[in-house]
Amino acid sequence: MPLVSPSLLSADFGHLAQDIEMLNSSEADWYHLDVMDGVFVPNISFGFPVMQAMANHARKPLDVHLMIERPEKFVDQVKALGSHVMNVHYEACPHLHRVVQQIKNAGMLAGVTLNPHTPVAVLEDIIDDLDLVMLMSVNPGFGGQKFIEHSVEKTARLRELIDRRQAKALIEIDGGVNVHTGAKLVKAGADVLVAGSAVFSAPDPAAEILALKNL
Ligand code: DX5
Ligand code: ZN
Repeated sequence: MPLVSPSLLSADFGHLAQDIEMLNSSEADWYHLDVMDGVFVPNISFGFPVMQAMANHARKPLDVHLMIERPEKFVDQVKALGSHVMNVHYEACPHLHRVVQQIKNAGMLAGVTLNPHTPVAVLEDIIDDLDLVMLMSVNPGFGGQKFIEHSVEKTARLRELIDRRQAKALIEIDGGVNVHTGAKLVKAGADVLVAGSAVFSAPDPAAEILALKNL
């Protein structure tokens, strides 16, 4: 059974508390918070004051996805939210090993995210240090995009790398995940599914979360 991490990027920002209450009473495992800086990605989402408001209502672990340059500057602030997972992009971190240690020293799970064009092989020398690897199955920056099918094969390759090294990293997939793409991803070895539009545009979001859990 995969963990399901609904992305609040697709929530109704005018009624965030209400959407978070829905998640609190659903089968969701984590809450995925997408931070964008308009530099690393061509969009801006929300920052710490909004995430603090979300955290105040959330009764499950936060899974923070930083689509920003210099994410190492914000380790303490992400920790202060009470975050469980801090995901940074491989492409944004020239000193990735140092950032990963900072995240772990702060007491969070260290996640490294790869853009669609970045091969899993770049993680060969750091995989043992990671708690989680997240593969982007769309180009980061926007919700509601079309799933890149190649991500299924890429998930299987990441599974093979982790198993071969007997590493413990969880595999999380983000972008275009719904029950159809999610089924293929779970079969390929995914542990955590992020879903934004599939959950929040469903007629019954809690039922959609349950359907993803049951893949
Ligand atoms: C995209 C974000 C995703 C996004 C996923 O840049 O990282 O988390 O919210 O949205 P869907 O599930 O609609 O593709
Ligand atoms: Zn995300």
